[in-house]
Amino acid sequence: MTNIKKIVVLTGAGISAESGIKTFRESGGLWEEHDINEVATPQAWKENPALVTRFYNERRKQLFSVFPNAAHFALVELEKKYDVQIITQNVDDLHERAGSSKVLHLHGELKKVRSTADEKLIYELTEDNYEVKIGDKCEKGSQLRPHIVWFGEAVPNIVIASKMTEHCDIMIVIGTSLNVYPAAGLLEYAGFNIPKYLIDPNDAPVFGLKNLKKIIAKATVGVPQLVEELMKE
Ligand code: OAD
Repeated sequence: MTNIKKIVVLTGAGISAESGIKTFRESGGLWEEHDINEVATPQAWKENPALVTRFYNERRKQLFSVFPNAAHFALVELEKKYDVQIITQNVDDLHERAGSSKVLHLHGELKKVRSTADEKLIYELTEDNYEVKIGDKCEKGSQLRPHIVWFGEAVPNIVIASKMTEHCDIMIVIGTSLNVYPAAGLLEYAGFNIPKYLIDPNDAPVFGLKNLKKIIAKATVGVPQLVEELMKE
């Protein structure tokens, strides 16, 4: 029996940048236009739910008008030879739309909303019905909120993500400033000796990792290039 190698791919906003979705921390990024404390915290939701709802309605509307790019598609190609697990910080669904079969979202999903009374009641919105309003309720009668992990909230999928990372043979990190924890800490769970790749047009200050190769390039260039190399191995 052949032993299929496991690859964990950690993605951030940069992989979707060339699809037309803004990143967060670069100049012109989302957090320059919007105050995190006003739209992406439990306190913001308490103080001004209408503003928070509007912010995510706008993001959701935009998501329906963009498409996966060459980087998302290249990761699908990788599945022909490897067991590929995507762990994404992104709330878009571009990995799924490209065709990746295993995608774990760390920070939630933009197209979903959930009950404020029972977090297990999750609903998927459609292009014809993507706007949530104050007063829209779950079947138990409580307000619907974005299915997003806000700053200050727990990251439920981090436990399973760290286990996946611990057991992988190759780790690829694409388009993240590695500023937000616990997601940024995942690299430290990867085996000390396994090959690690970092793809980002900006040279991220990452130190102390063995077998790390930095590919200083945009995702649509760097990811297909790395995938081509890995398919030859
Ligand atoms: P950031 O905005 O912090 O970082 C984006 C990264 O993408 C930077 O390192 C850029 O250099 C890189 N980048 C830009 N264009 C790129 C391209 N064409 N190809 C490849 N890389 C490119 O976004 P994240 O690190 O994803 O959380 O942010 C992490 C979390 O912070 C997000 O999930 C979000 C945010 O607040 C929540 O909203 C909960």
